[in-house]
Amino acid sequence: MVITMNNFKFHNPTKLIFGKETISKLTTEIPLDKIILVTFGGGSVKKNGVYEQVKTALKEHTYHEFWGIEPNPSVETLREAIAVGKENKCNFVLAVGGGSVIDGSKLIAAGIIYDGDAWELTLKGNYTKGKTLPLATVLTLPATGSEMNSGAVISNRARKEKFSFYSKHPLFSILDPQTTYTLPPFQISCGIADTFIHVIEQYLTTTGQSPLMDRWAEGILQTIIEIAPEIKRDQENYDNMATFMLSATMALNGFISMGVTQDWATHMIGHELTALHGLTHAHTLTIVLPGTMYVLREEKGDKIIQFGERVFGIKQEGKDKASREKVIIATIKKTEEFFKELGFKTKLSENGIGMKTIEEIEKRFNERDVKLGENQSVDGTVARQILEHVK
Ligand code: NZQ
Ligand code: ZN
Repeated sequence: MVITMNNFKFHNPTKLIFGKETISKLTTEIPLDKIILVTFGGGSVKKNGVYEQVKTALKEHTYHEFWGIEPNPSVETLREAIAVGKENKCNFVLAVGGGSVIDGSKLIAAGIIYDGDAWELTLKGNYTKGKTLPLATVLTLPATGSEMNSGAVISNRARKEKFSFYSKHPLFSILDPQTTYTLPPFQISCGIADTFIHVIEQYLTTTGQSPLMDRWAEGILQTIIEIAPEIKRDQENYDNMATFMLSATMALNGFISMGVTQDWATHMIGHELTALHGLTHAHTLTIVLPGTMYVLREEKGDKIIQFGERVFGIKQEGKDKASREKVIIATIKKTEEFFKELGFKTKLSENGIGMKTIEEIEKRFNERDVKLGENQSVDGTVARQILEHVK
């Protein structure tokens, strides 16, 4: 099989406004005639001055506030926000917070001008051509890349389901790295792991498609590995937090996926773990990824070896099967160690998850007839093997 670069279209319309004291730019970036729905999470922005800065910047604007978008935003909460937006005739949405507030606000921006139910809207999956209100964001947590992509992941608490929804990119996003100083250490670890695994999902597929995409991806991975211990030690170092924040954005804004195949099986299995057990998004990924790498080590072998050599400096001694396997296993081990150093428990059993959940995920994937991964080789059975490997 000849491996070549795929055709692609690239269009990322989000304006990035990055740096110290940039929240004040809201004043001029949002037209004065807009009626804004400003959306927030559970209140962290009141403790770090972000809320005050937003209020000051919008003092001449007309806006309504919606509070309480929770981690893994639920359609139940988002319906309430949509109702507030409709009632007040809002025609602009400003999300202030982490990935959950931004993701939720993508559904809100669509839902305010949609007649049906928000879950029906979510289940459309691809809404990139649908009508939405303009959305802008003030990011406070580097992790998801939601500030510069069109994706969102919406949960349904009643049904214990979590699905992707693709809508419009934000018009602009404000990233002031100083807002991250108040993040709990666990969320810092989650942001680092999520960024790392976003790159992996777009990189750890096949070799030889695009040397440029490979180097960009490896550049982000190396940067993240290099700064992770620094950030964990001191999260008020502006330059390190700025590098972290920019890395997270660059990891999932389309810049490293031009013309290359992508995987995303780890994320899809991870979403099930969150839906069924409420486990934090990035944590699920640190559990699943070593299993994905191990079970798919035949088809991903060449790329795992490249990853091991270039990112972790693992040298392959010979070309025979045994030396290949040695590098592959060592690379998987290094990856898992990186997650453990961040403080994650990377086995299902350590997180109270057993066979019942593995079987439920296999069943769900079979019912939905999913075929995940760059080769569509991850179905219910393979997902089960992946999870059994990380029991
Ligand atoms: O709700 P508040 O009070 O604001 O507190 C939040 C929340 O409890 C807190 N936090 C955020 N910024 C803070 C802060 N605490 C102190 N100081 C700050 N500066 O952190 C907690 C977690 O926030 P959340 O937004 O849930 O985290 P994250 O940004 O990791 O988002 C996770 C969600 O994004 C989805 C995930 O599935 C999950 O639902 N994803 C979205 C993606 C996308 N749009 O492309 C891709 C990702 O793979 C991911 O799936
Ligand atoms: Zn993620």
